[in-house]
Amino acid sequence: MRVMERTFREQLCFLLLSVSVLRGGCRSLENNEISNEFYSLFNPEPRRDSPDAFMYRRALRCMDMVAVEGQFTFTAETPHLSCATFLMAEPSELISVEVDRVDIDCSGGDFITVFDGWVMKGEKFPSSQDHPLPLYERYVDYCDGAPARRTVRASQNVAMVFFRVHSAGSSFTLTVRKHVNLFPCNAISQSPEGSYTMVIPQQRRNCSFSILYPVAIDISEFSLGRHGSFPKRKMPGCAESEDFVQLLGGNGIDTSKLLPITDLCVSFTGPTHMKIACDNTVVRMVSSGSFVSRVSFSYRALDSQELQTIKLNNVEDFCFNN
Ligand SMILES: *[C@@H]1O[C@H](CO)[C@@H](O)[C@H](O)[C@H]1NC(C)=O
Repeated sequence: MRVMERTFREQLCFLLLSVSVLRGGCRSLENNEISNEFYSLFNPEPRRDSPDAFMYRRALRCMDMVAVEGQFTFTAETPHLSCATFLMAEPSELISVEVDRVDIDCSGGDFITVFDGWVMKGEKFPSSQDHPLPLYERYVDYCDGAPARRTVRASQNVAMVFFRVHSAGSSFTLTVRKHVNLFPCNAISQSPEGSYTMVIPQQRRNCSFSILYPVAIDISEFSLGRHGSFPKRKMPGCAESEDFVQLLGGNGIDTSKLLPITDLCVSFTGPTHMKIACDNTVVRMVSSGSFVSRVSFSYRALDSQELQTIKLNNVEDFCFNN
């Protein structure tokens, strides 16, 4: 179990290292020997300056992370049976990916599958509970052949491409684009610090904002409005409320498997400040659809001294205990 957890943590760090804004450290990696290749695998990538002048292009690796728009071409020199590309944009963006110039052997067992979200260690983000589509619709397989489905627009700022190719010389190109998302629901933070306001505009749905670092988090506001104003009637407490905010923590990415740290109801007067030494901290807002729900928070990664302090008083934090 310990080994699995460490591996999961390393995998998260591995992914997040590639996002050039990373400033905090990944605690579990500090004392491990990591080859230079591990770090140099993902150099910061240049941003595209003008939208149509040219596209950034580079080769795609079997395990890769893409956080910029551009064209990414995979060319196999040997069989690659288990490859994955993690795609990521800003929380206020949607990511789309087009698969083209494909030279693979679908009938020989090769595949390219785009997933609407991320999958790690069998866990999914967004969780099946919070995603607008049923699970089977979140997988789009290139080899199914419907050309209209060669461009997949994800429902949030993260998506993923799995692929397998058996013969040398097989190749394909991914074109990754970012789009403005007017009402972002689920998102993974690209950065270990920032601030965010999540709004659910009178819809019956639940949204999660996930931060894949141990963090100090401040929730400054949680409000319910209708047509921009506060509800007149007195709201019940959390227990009966259909509208509330949960702070969740744990070591996987599936928000439905995380443990609740605290619930905030409409009686919340804020601000609340917490330090959470989990690999994944999530702010999840549950909305009945009766109100315009809004939650605002800011966060930053915990430093190693803060983590040490929490570890020493580990009653405070269950992520070190489980
Ligand atoms: C939102 O989450 C709540 C509690 O976790 C659940 O009872 C409700 O069914 C969910 N709503 C939707 C639309 O998924």
